[in-house]
Amino acid sequence: MANGYTINNSEHQRICVVMVGLPARGKSLMAQKIVRYLSWLSIKAKSFNVGSYRRLEEAHPSAEFFDIHNTEGERMRLQAAKLAVKDMMEWFEEEQGIVGILDATNSTKKRREWIRQLLAEHDIEPFFVESWCDDKELIMNNIMDVKTSSPDYVGQDPEEAAKDFMERIKKYEEVYETLDDQELTYVKIINISTQVVINRIQSYLQSRIVYYVMNLHIKRRCIWLSRHGESEYNLTGKLGGDSSLSPRGQLYAEKLPQLVRDAVGDRPLTVWTSTLKRTQQTAKYLPYPKLHWKALDELDAGVCDGMTYEEIERDFPEDFEARDKNKYEYRYRGGESYRDVVARLEPIIMELERQENIMIVTHQAVLRCIYAYFMNVPQDRSPWMVVPLHTLIQLEPRPYSTAETRVPANIPAVSTYREKGTSTLDK
Ligand code: SIN
Repeated sequence: MANGYTINNSEHQRICVVMVGLPARGKSLMAQKIVRYLSWLSIKAKSFNVGSYRRLEEAHPSAEFFDIHNTEGERMRLQAAKLAVKDMMEWFEEEQGIVGILDATNSTKKRREWIRQLLAEHDIEPFFVESWCDDKELIMNNIMDVKTSSPDYVGQDPEEAAKDFMERIKKYEEVYETLDDQELTYVKIINISTQVVINRIQSYLQSRIVYYVMNLHIKRRCIWLSRHGESEYNLTGKLGGDSSLSPRGQLYAEKLPQLVRDAVGDRPLTVWTSTLKRTQQTAKYLPYPKLHWKALDELDAGVCDGMTYEEIERDFPEDFEARDKNKYEYRYRGGESYRDVVARLEPIIMELERQENIMIVTHQAVLRCIYAYFMNVPQDRSPWMVVPLHTLIQLEPRPYSTAETRVPANIPAVSTYREKGTSTLDK
């Protein structure tokens, strides 16, 4: 597979990301985002949350349960950690996992040493990721989030839940030891990347994870996605090229500023387009700063550029069939596959994580790949998603999901959607 990540992992390195941090430091959120990011890059990753294993025995513990002197609590918590580690080891072996994440506080050196030894026995690299935070506002926001969303406090009075959770944090603080062992591989993210300490990063994959977590922020923001307006090539069903907008595509470009203003309000916005004419013409009337990215250009159809699907089926029947069988992997002769597009979009995703409100005007395949990242769409489905022309998509990343709204411009356009097994486009 021509994928940078697979090649760089050819030594079959397996990594366990061991999360470290007090409660309410955003560890689980970080763990889930790492899994989503790596899965999008086709790196098999899974998070194992020790709290969910503990809940099997103790579903609604009070703060006392987490007291270091509570021997029964200690026993159950160790038991939960053992179960999580056991399942993770099985997952590494049976499902050829690459990056397992142990999502827990792992707050003492003793606990971390126990994990390190277990991993060494199984030839798995430990990589500690600490979220360290003393920003009172951030912590309070997390506490407020937990009191309403944590299964530990379901059905409880929210104020009581918040009080108990703060008590729980104090119990952990009594024994908490930050990462400072020079022998360990770790990254310490301090107050959401105000400061980042990295130690003994040894592999390409570890460095990708470091770079990713360094770029995360938790400010509320939205991402708006739109395909270019209907193009001249769209009218004839041709792929690729660099044609201009059709008259209806031009109408969409003229209507877009109002659609965007209604959605964005007075928030600052930057517009990203590809380097192709049809996206720049679509964004022409948007009164915001613009950036043009080559990485946002449409999937390169190689020798099929400028052809219709019917022509491809006639002239390259084997290719046509191969693409239907595995659209994500199929690479056009002299062109690209969806997998290739994902690889070239990685810097875009990284930059999107760093930025706040961004609008992207791009192309069908590229939009599908970006959408798949935010909405966690698997690779067998993402190349087949319906993304109509003349529609503004709003994505709002939230702590454990992304909310989506679609606003149609109500300007007719041809469909460019082709169902599996046919070479004609939807009407
Ligand atoms: C929990 O039981 O909620 C988490 C255990 C831990 O990570 O300390």
